[in-house]
Amino acid sequence: MRIAVTGSSGTLGTATVARLRDGGHDVVGFDLAGPAGPGFTRVDLADYGQTLDALLGVTARHDGVDALVHLAAIPVNGLVPDVTTFHANLTASFNTLFAALRAGVRTVVHASSITAMGFPFAQPPPYLPLDEDVTAASNTYGLVKVLEETMAGQFARWDDALSITALRFTNLVAPGGYDTFARAGDPAYRRDLLGSYVDVRDAAMAVALALDAARPGAAVYNVAAADTGLSIPSAELARRWFPGVTVRKPLAGFESLVAIDRAREHLGYAPAHDWRTEYAAAQAVR
Ligand SMILES: NC(=O)c1ccc[n+]([C@@H]2O[C@H](COP(=O)([O-])OP(=O)(O)OC[C@H]3O[C@@H](n4cnc5c(N)ncnc54)[C@H](O)[C@@H]3O)[C@@H](O)[C@H]2O)c1
Repeated sequence: MRIAVTGSSGTLGTATVARLRDGGHDVVGFDLAGPAGPGFTRVDLADYGQTLDALLGVTARHDGVDALVHLAAIPVNGLVPDVTTFHANLTASFNTLFAALRAGVRTVVHASSITAMGFPFAQPPPYLPLDEDVTAASNTYGLVKVLEETMAGQFARWDDALSITALRFTNLVAPGGYDTFARAGDPAYRRDLLGSYVDVRDAAMAVALALDAARPGAAVYNVAAADTGLSIPSAELARRWFPGVTVRKPLAGFESLVAIDRAREHLGYAPAHDWRTEYAAAQAVR
């Protein structure tokens, strides 16, 4: 399959491009910056004309794509003023998803976030483990993720053949980025993320699986590691962080408080990386 990946030079984009190429796909990256040459075209997704044209074809690169993976964004609040995060991300996502619709691309996977369901959880979640049925934004970045998911649901109604899958990633951790897990015993660590994390290689695997599993309609999946990033049992974290919040099932050991059952069941998602192994390996080479 020929796949366009936006945000191809970013943390998740780099891992995703590698994963898809390993899987035998022909990948063309779109980003504001990247390696000159085959497989990459500089595109500013703020510009609808560029975005549509790049999806339709680029001389010496491709003559149309079968699928789109949309990862480009300002990846967090705070880097620029909140209003800029909103305008930049919503504009880029509308341009990209609408251009895909116009260009006849019928398989789309896009990056959503745990911020679409309550991060940083100043207000407690309605229940734990937190699943995809909860939608709650607490800042402009999360608001755009909610709006993107809503937009995707509407676009899927406009075209019966369109498959559009939102992956709600939690905090992405790249190989070599596990140093902060030294704080795993600190009950304040990752509370704003419900303790969650996901290795970027597992996140990229989820993208590949979502492309493989694409079927018409809009879908939303949480993507997190199987465990929390803490060495405190999950049942204790739930009690400590959110007293009175319903815990819907017995929590085994360090089981994630972000439910990944839906991705496991529908996509075959099975996270292969965990912080204990990665952290120990990083310490061993010091
Ligand atoms: N980093 C996380 O922990 C995290 C967690 C949940 C969801 N996400 C989402 O995953 C996606 C990827 O995040 P990341 O951490 O890899 O971010 P990143 O900042 O590393 O990469 C984003 C890329 O998008 C590109 N980009 C931004 N605006 C663009 C534009 N107008 N035109 C073309 N390219 C543009 C940037 O140049 C960058 O290379 C984002 O949608 C982000 O919101 C990230």
